[in-house]
Amino acid sequence: MEVFRRQVEEAAAFIRSRIALRPKIAMILGTGLGGVAGEMENAVAIPYEEIPHFPVSTVAGHEGRLLCGLFAGKPVLAMQGRFHLYEGYTARQISFPIRVLRALGSGILIVSNAAGGLNPQFQAGDLMLVTDHINMTGQNPLVGPNVDEWGARFTDMTEPYSRRLRILAAEKALTARIELHRGVYVGLVGPSLETAAETRFLRAAGADAVGMSLVMEAITAVHAGIELMGVSVITNVNLPDNYQPTPLEEIIATAESAGLRLQKLLAGVVAAL
Ligand code: HPA
Repeated sequence: MEVFRRQVEEAAAFIRSRIALRPKIAMILGTGLGGVAGEMENAVAIPYEEIPHFPVSTVAGHEGRLLCGLFAGKPVLAMQGRFHLYEGYTARQISFPIRVLRALGSGILIVSNAAGGLNPQFQAGDLMLVTDHINMTGQNPLVGPNVDEWGARFTDMTEPYSRRLRILAAEKALTARIELHRGVYVGLVGPSLETAAETRFLRAAGADAVGMSLVMEAITAVHAGIELMGVSVITNVNLPDNYQPTPLEEIIATAESAGLRLQKLLAGVVAAL
């Protein structure tokens, strides 16, 4: 753990030396949502491979760089591209960038991702504010020795997704006339998609959307005392009794088509912080 801590400090020190701003707000931009980055004024872009000890993302639709600039008038750090268990990263490796963001002073994290809809009321292209999650990965980024300076051994998960940010997002969605569902995200390892039986099971378990990211990041953020908000773009809806395959290109295209609405929503939230 001492090595891991030192690596976090080294990565943070490197980034600090490259940026002039000291953002308190961080964002993770998921599949097809990198367009939000286009909005960031005068952003400094640091490729992940230049940051000491940082993992490097390997998936189509995910760029791998850290942006630092103004979004909606506020200094923001944005991860364009993230790390997934299905790529072979460990839960702890996925937690690394979150620890670095915290070390850089970020106290708020807004996470976006693509997800499959399980709630039959949802449609492809809809946005869902994450109200809670179910961790079905069988993994946890907090396994192993606890760093007490970072957070508690037994992290409280009664309200991982900030009530304040949920209320703010709902308000901003209303004023911008953006439809925003609320729901529970279930996180799986992937990369295989769910069977019809699994889809039925996950719905019955109380989930509204299913995906392969978010939960490792979310648990780390809660442990680190970061105020968290999550938004999923519903890229496809999986109905077990009429289950159809969705090609990856369609998932990415739908995520991109929802990008502008998500961007507006996030801009409204960030501007009010
Ligand atoms: N399942 C899991 N992850 C996903 C899906 C899905 O249907 N769509 C986008 N991410």
